[in-house]
Amino acid sequence: MSTGFSLFVTIGTIGSMIGFFLLLYLNRSIDNPGQTTGHDYDGIQELDNPLPAWWFWWFILTIVFAAGYLLYYPGLGNFGGISEWTSVGQLEEAQDAADRKFGPLYAQYRDKSLAELAADPAARNMGRRIFASNCTVCHGANAQGSFGFPNLTDSEWIWGSEDEDIKVTLLHGRMAAMPAWGDALGEAGVEQVTEYVLQLSGREGVDADLAAQGQSQYAMFCIACHGPEGKGNKIFGAPDLTNDIWLYGGSRLRIAHVLKHGRNGVMPAFGERLGEDKVHILAGYVKSLSAEQ
Ligand code: HEC
Ligand code: HEC
Repeated sequence: MSTGFSLFVTIGTIGSMIGFFLLLYLNRSIDNPGQTTGHDYDGIQELDNPLPAWWFWWFILTIVFAAGYLLYYPGLGNFGGISEWTSVGQLEEAQDAADRKFGPLYAQYRDKSLAELAADPAARNMGRRIFASNCTVCHGANAQGSFGFPNLTDSEWIWGSEDEDIKVTLLHGRMAAMPAWGDALGEAGVEQVTEYVLQLSGREGVDADLAAQGQSQYAMFCIACHGPEGKGNKIFGAPDLTNDIWLYGGSRLRIAHVLKHGRNGVMPAFGERLGEDKVHILAGYVKSLSAEQ
C-alpha cells in the first residue's frame, strides 16, 4: 500500500471513530428536560432526551474494543499491529502443523519405487488427494487433460516415464519450446510438412505428393528434436508424432497452426509447494494412471 493511501485509510478510520465518540458525547450532554424534538405523531410527542446510560456505555465499549483491535491487528493502513499477525503467517503455521502431523505418514514411502507406490492402495489414495487439490485445474478431474494439457492416463510420456523423469517433471516443472516455422517454411512449406506429419501419424487419405515434399523439409528443420522417425525426444519434451496422440489437436488446421506459430507449454514446478515426500507419493499415483500399467 502506498504511504498516501495508508494515511488516507488511517486518518479516515481514526477520524470516524473520534467523530462517533463526539456525536455520542454531545448527545449525552443534552440537558433540556421535558422539551420535545417537535415531532408529533398522532398525539405522541417525541421528547428530546439523551440516550439511556446503558446504551451510551455500550457504544463507548464498542469504540474502545475497535481501538484495541486496531492496535493489536493490522487494520490501520501499513501499520501491522503489535501482534504482527498476517493471514500468510497463519496459513504457514497451519501448513507447518499439518506437515508435522502428516510428514511421517508421507516419509514412510520415501524409499519405495514408483511402481511399488502405484500398486499400494493406501499410497494411491494419498496421491489421489494431492492430485485433486493441485493438478486437476489443468489436467482435469479424471487426469485426461484437454487442449494443451497432456492426458496422463494414456501411453504417451512426452517427458519420459522413468521414475526419475516423472519426479523431475513434478519437482522442477517443464518448459517446452516448439519454435515457430511460419517464416522458414512459408505457406506452401507449412502445408507440405503438415501433410508429412499426418502421414507420420498414420492418418489415412493424405496427399502423398505433398507429404513427400514435406519430408525433405522435415529432415532439415524437425529431426533435431522430433527425431528421424518422428518418435520425439523426451529431453526436449518434443512429442512423438507417430502415435496420433495430440496435445494441440490432430486436424490439418491445428497442426499447421502449431508449425506456423510454435508452442511453449509450461508444466509448473511443485517441489517447493509440496516437498519431496509428497511429490514422491504423487509421482507414484501419476504412474498408476498411465495406460502402460
Ligand atoms: C497450470 C497448469 C498445470 C498444473 C496445475 C499442472 N500441470 Fe502438469 N502439465 C501442464 C502442462 C501444460 C504440461 C505439458 C507441458 C508441455 O510439454 O507442453 C504438463 C505436463 C505434465 C506431465 C508430463 C506428461 C508427459 O507426457 O510427460 C506430468 C506427469 C504432469 N504434468 C503432472 C502433473 C501433476 C501431478 C500436477 C499436480 C501437482 C500437475 N501436472 C499440475 C500443466 C499443468
Ligand atoms: C527445438 C526443438 C524442436 C524443433 C526443431 C521442432 N519441434 Fe515440434 N515440438 C517441439 C516441442 C518441445 C513441442 C511440444 C510443445 C509444447 O508442448 O508446448 C513440439 C510440438 C510439435 C507439434 C505438436 C504436437 C502435438 O501433440 O500437438 C507438432 C505437430 C510439431 N512439433 C511438429 C514439428 C515440425 C513439423 C517441426 C519442423 C518444422 C518441428 N516440430 C520442429 C520441439 C521442436
